[in-house]
Amino acid sequence: MQFDMLIQGGTVVTAADTYAADIGISGGRITAIAQQLPRETARQVLSAQGLYVMPGGIDVHTHLDMPFGGTTSADDFESGTIAAAFGGTTTLIDFAIQYKGQTLRTAFDTWMKKAERKAVIDYAFHCIITDLPDARLDDMDALVREGVSSFKLFMAYPGVFMLEDALIFKAMSQAARNGALICMHAENGGAIDVIVQRALAEGKTAPKYHALTRPTTAEAEATGRSIALAEMAGAPVYIVHLSCNEALEKVREARDRGLPVYAETCPQYLFLSLENMDVPGFEAAKYVFTPPLREKWHQEKLWAGLAADHLQAVSTDHCPFCYKEQKEMGKGDFTKIPNGGPGIEHRLSLVFTGGVHGKRFSLNRFVELVSTTPAKLFGLYPRKGTIAVGTDADLILFDPNKEETISAKTHHMKVDYSMFEGIRVKGVPRQVLLGGRLVIDKGKFVGKPGQGQFLKRQPYSGL
Ligand code: URP
Ligand code: ZN
Ligand code: ZN
Repeated sequence: MQFDMLIQGGTVVTAADTYAADIGISGGRITAIAQQLPRETARQVLSAQGLYVMPGGIDVHTHLDMPFGGTTSADDFESGTIAAAFGGTTTLIDFAIQYKGQTLRTAFDTWMKKAERKAVIDYAFHCIITDLPDARLDDMDALVREGVSSFKLFMAYPGVFMLEDALIFKAMSQAARNGALICMHAENGGAIDVIVQRALAEGKTAPKYHALTRPTTAEAEATGRSIALAEMAGAPVYIVHLSCNEALEKVREARDRGLPVYAETCPQYLFLSLENMDVPGFEAAKYVFTPPLREKWHQEKLWAGLAADHLQAVSTDHCPFCYKEQKEMGKGDFTKIPNGGPGIEHRLSLVFTGGVHGKRFSLNRFVELVSTTPAKLFGLYPRKGTIAVGTDADLILFDPNKEETISAKTHHMKVDYSMFEGIRVKGVPRQVLLGGRLVIDKGKFVGKPGQGQFLKRQPYSGL
C-alpha cells in the first residue's frame, strides 16, 4: 500500500478510544490504521512519538469578517482561519447574516464570497435569520438542501437581530420538518434593554455596566423559553454561548426529560469572570461580549456541566474587535462598544489545560467536546470529527506537556489584545494537517489561502 503520508509512533485519541497506532494517508483521507505500517511505502513520514494524534478541532461558532456594532470583526477568513489552524482547529462554522429584506440565499452567497480564496481550513455556514415572512419559510428548506443545515435566531438585540416568539416558533416548526438545527442566542433582549436604558439614565456608562445590565436571570428565562418553544414545535435546539449556572439548569432539566436540547459554552466563561472587568480606565471593554462574564463561581458549574454531558460542546464565539479604534467607539457609552471577543486560536489548549490536566474530564471527553460532538450535531460526521479509515485526514499532532503563555505578542489573530493574556496553558498542537497536508508545522504556517473547502452539511440527525 502506497501512502502520501505516514504518521508514525503516535497515540491515537478519539472520543471512544486511546491506542498506539500508525496512520496512513492517501488522497487526503485516512487509508490505513495499524499498529505498524511500513515507512518505505510513504512519500512523507511524520514522527508522532510522544504525541497524541487527534481529529482536527471543529469550532461551530465564529464571526469572521462580520459587520456588527458599526464596525467589522477584525479577522477575515484568511487571518481568522490561520489563527484557528495554529490552535488545532481544522473546520469552522461561521454565521451568514440575512439582513432585513434580504433572502436567506443572499446571506449565504455573501458569506461564500468572503470565505472562498481566503480560508485555509474547511468551513461551513449557519444562517442568521432576522426576517421571515410566511411566504419565505420554504427558503429555509432550500438552504438545508444546499448544506446550510442550521440557523441562528436571536432573543436579544432588539431592533437588530431579535425575533419575536411567534417567528421563532414558526422557524422551529419549519426546522422540525426540514431537518435543520436551530441555534439560539438566549437572552431576554426586551428586559435587558429596559435595564440598560435605566443604567444610562443614571450615568452608568463604563464598560462593566454591559455585564451588570445583562443578568443571569435574563439568560435563564430565554433559555427556558426557547426550550419550551422547541418542545412545542417538535424541534431540536442548540443553545449557543451558554454562560451561567441558571441557564445550564434549564438545559439539564430539559435533557433529563429526554428532549433534544444541546448547549455549548466557550473558554471565556470557563476561564474569565466579572473580576476581569475590574481594571482601570476603559480596559474592561476588552471583555465586552454577550452574554457577559459572570461571577467566578459559575466557572466550576460549567466545567462540571461539560463533564456530565449537560453541555455538549465548547466553541469560541470568536468575534474580535481591536481595543484601539474599535472597542474605543464605546468610550462614554458602553452600549456603543462592539460586542465580541477574540478566541479562535486557544480553544483546544485552554480546554485541554482546564479539562484534562485539571482532571475534570478524560482525554476522550476532550476530543468529544471540541471535535466529535460538534461534527455529529452539525452534519459533518463521520467525514470530520474522528479518526477512522475513510475520514478526512484532518489531524493534530498534539504535545500534551508543552507549556505556553498566551499573549497578544505571539498570537496570530489580527487583534491588538488577548482576553487570555498571561494564562499559562499546557498542551499545544505541534503539527496540524488538513486533508493530509500540513498547515502548521512546528510553529510555522505552511498552508495556502483558499485551500479550505466549503462543506455541505447533512441535516440534523441526533447524537
Ligand atoms: O458578543 C458577542 N457574542 N458577539 C457576537 C454575536 C453573538 O451574539 O454571538
Ligand atoms: Zn449570540
Ligand atoms: Zn456569536
